[in-house]
Amino acid sequence: MGRLKELKKYVNKKLSEMKDPDEMLKAAGHLYGVSMSAELIAQKRGLDTELAGMAGMLHDLYAYESGSYEDHAHKGADLARKVLEKLGLTSSEETDIICSAIYHHDDKAAVDAPMDEVLKDADAMHHIYNDLSKEVKEKEAARYADLKKEFGIEA
Ligand SMILES: [Fe+2]
Ligand SMILES: [Fe+2]
Repeated sequence: MGRLKELKKYVNKKLSEMKDPDEMLKAAGHLYGVSMSAELIAQKRGLDTELAGMAGMLHDLYAYESGSYEDHAHKGADLARKVLEKLGLTSSEETDIICSAIYHHDDKAAVDAPMDEVLKDADAMHHIYNDLSKEVKEKEAARYADLKKEFGIEA
């Protein structure tokens, strides 16, 4: 089994412990959606597709486990590090890349390291594509416009 799948097995188990089945499905949809979007964006940018997918799977796990979005990006990076160190799937450099992406993913207005940007864009992408009838959030509009340009989609 590949390590992305291995990580999904771990995340699935954690999600299955959530009390509310609707929230659990929403959480799974978001983590899987962001993970796959991150893989596509990473591939387009010549970055490590698998690490991008792994960052996507872990990026909001803290919020779902704790039920709180308070400082969830920073706390989520700490949780991701614990999970990755426990699972032993990544080198310490890879763990740092994933945790940095999670740490920065809520700073949508700033530009950070390449993998950080992949996760931010993937997160924005899932928020937007999850419900096309909703107005695009202001903080995600510029990212969405740039993404469409990058993928050759007409505005
Ligand atoms: Fe988040
Ligand atoms: Fe998210």
